[in-house]
Amino acid sequence: MTNIFFLLSLFSLLIHEQVRSDSNTCTLTEPDILGPYWLNGAPEKSNVVCDHLPANDVLKLSGRIVDFDSKCERGIRDVRLDIWQANYNGVYSTGKSSNDWFCRGVFHADRNGYFKISTLFPGRYDDGGYRPAHIHFNITAPGYPKLITQLYFEKDAYLSPVDSCRQCRSDSKSLIASVTHINDIKTYEGYWQIVLSKKSHGKNGGKARFVRGAYINVTPYVMPINGTYQDNIIQ
Ligand SMILES: *[C@@H]1O[C@H](CO)[C@@H](O)[C@H](O)[C@H]1NC(C)=O
Ligand SMILES: *[C@@H]1O[C@H](CO)[C@@H](O)[C@H](O)[C@H]1NC(C)=O
Repeated sequence: MTNIFFLLSLFSLLIHEQVRSDSNTCTLTEPDILGPYWLNGAPEKSNVVCDHLPANDVLKLSGRIVDFDSKCERGIRDVRLDIWQANYNGVYSTGKSSNDWFCRGVFHADRNGYFKISTLFPGRYDDGGYRPAHIHFNITAPGYPKLITQLYFEKDAYLSPVDSCRQCRSDSKSLIASVTHINDIKTYEGYWQIVLSKKSHGKNGGKARFVRGAYINVTPYVMPINGTYQDNIIQ
């Protein structure tokens, strides 16, 4: 058990029983900066974001996109989720060749707004200080304003105010998913409710803006984990 807890603390995450702790609150999901890594043209995928998932550090993320003006009771249909993230070592794919789209993909939620993806628990990277683990989302649905944001994970020691990206919104509760480990230490399970509104509430599309140059000199950072993980998804 000692080793298990040691390993988990390296992820800056603690075991958390309450997977769906956010499901009782209904607050708009806030936007976050686009960042320098979004690429147009990510492939459509059915549910796996990063191909060739390793045995370790897999994140199963489920959630639901709901309508704010129905008090979050109504799921939104036809939601498109464009997702991109770093691999375990904090490296993004470049999209330069057909097999260089790892950890990027376009997904569709079901008609009631539910989605479920499997991915790699994202690594950190150093842009003059560490960013918390995060996954980028571009969320679009007919009739709703586009939402560009980032998902973070509770108990991550690098969340705001320590987040090296000053404009990023890792301070926003609406962007922090609960996460727990299931079965063994290798699989994380997270849940995230995404709340959109057709009306303007002065938030969606608002505050967070990417300032070029502030967030682009990134050095990949290999997490100090005990040698079980190989960076086997860089192709
Ligand atoms: C986000 O998704 C929409 C809908 O597919 C697309 O038009 C847009 O170019 C995407 N990216 C950004 C940065 O808005
Ligand atoms: C790292 O892994 C080795 C081999 O599996 C094990 O003997 C060692 O106890 C581990 N160390 C930590 C700190 O977990």
